[in-house]
Amino acid sequence: MDIGSEKIRIRRVLRNVRENRSINTVYFKDEDCSSAKPGQFVMVWEPGFDEFPMSLSHYDEQGICSVTVKPWGPGSNELVRAKRGDLIGIRGPYGRPYTVERSSSLLVGGGTGLAPMLPLAKALLRAGGRVGVVIGGRSKADLLFEKQMQRIVKKTNLYLTTDDGSHGHPGFASDLAERLITERKVSRLYTCGPEVMMRKLYDISAKAGIDFEASLERSMKCGIGICGSCAVGKNLLCREGAVLDSEALKGSLDEFGLLQRDPSGRYIRI
Ligand SMILES: Cc1cc2nc3c(=O)[nH]c(=O)nc-3n(C[C@H](O)[C@H](O)[C@H](O)COP(=O)(O)OP(=O)(O)OC[C@H]3O[C@@H](n4cnc5c(N)ncnc54)[C@H](O)[C@@H]3O)c2cc1C
Ligand code: FES
Repeated sequence: MDIGSEKIRIRRVLRNVRENRSINTVYFKDEDCSSAKPGQFVMVWEPGFDEFPMSLSHYDEQGICSVTVKPWGPGSNELVRAKRGDLIGIRGPYGRPYTVERSSSLLVGGGTGLAPMLPLAKALLRAGGRVGVVIGGRSKADLLFEKQMQRIVKKTNLYLTTDDGSHGHPGFASDLAERLITERKVSRLYTCGPEVMMRKLYDISAKAGIDFEASLERSMKCGIGICGSCAVGKNLLCREGAVLDSEALKGSLDEFGLLQRDPSGRYIRI
C-alpha cells in the first residue's frame, strides 16, 4: 500500500502487554522507528480498518518499538486484541518532537498521554537535565507506567495523583504541577493527556513565565498535511505538531482545551 511516497511497512506483533484495566502496549520490530524522537507518532494500520495515529511509547537501537493503546473505536479495539504474530502496518515516525535540552523540567501525563513521556524522560536525563514526572489518573486503577517511570527517574522525582484520592496525591495533576513548578524551580513543562488538563497547564505555565510544550490529539486521516482533518486553529497537527509550544498555541486559544471537530468537521465541545 502506498500513500504518496509513504509506504506502509507490514510488521509482526512481538507481544501485547496489559498495562492497566483498559490500556495495552503492543510491541513490534521496525528499524525506521529506531531513530524516532520523543513525541513523534506513527500511523498504525489494522488490516480491514482505517489507519490511526499512535505515539511511540518505546523505541531502541535494535528497532524494538511499542505503542500504548486505549480502545475507542474499531481500529484501537482491534489493536488492543492483537496477538503475537499478527500483522499490523506502520508509517512514520512523523511529527514535531518535544524539544530536548538540559533544563529543570516537569513532565505531566494522564492516560495514554504517558506514552510519549517515557522516551522524553529518558532523553531529558541523557541531556543532563533535572526531571520530575507527574502521573495522573481518575483512580488508582487508571494510573499508567508507574513502575516503568520509577526505573527512569528516581522515586523522589515521581508524583502520582488521582482525582478520587485512591492513590498518591488526591486531586488533579494540574493542581500538583502548579505547586511543583515553584518548589522544584521548573523552567520547562511538557505534557500529553486530556486536553482540558493540558489547557490548565498552559495557563499555569503562562502565568509562571516558563516554557511549555503539549502533544495534542485530533482525528488524523492522511497524516501528511493534505486532508485538513487535524487542524487546531491555524496549526495542522500532523505537520506542525503533534507537539505544539506556547508560541504556536497562542493563535489557537479559542480552541485548545475547549473545542474539537467531529468526523463531519463540525465543532464540538471537549
Ligand atoms: C498524534 C496522536 C497521537 C496519539 N497517540 C495515541 C496513543 O498513544 N494511544 C492511544 O490510545 N491513542 C492515541 N491517539 C488517539 C487515537 O489515534 C484515536 O483514539 C483514534 O481515533 C483511534 O482510532 P479508532 O479507529 O479506534 O477509533 P475512531 O473510529 O477513530 O473513533 C471512534 C469514536 O471514538 C471517538 N474517539 C476516538 N479517540 C478518542 C479519544 N482519544 N477521546 C475521546 N473520544 C475518542 C471518536 O470521536 C469516534 O466517535 C493519538 C492521536 C494523535 C493525533
Ligand atoms: S491528517 Fe490530514 S492534514 Fe493532517
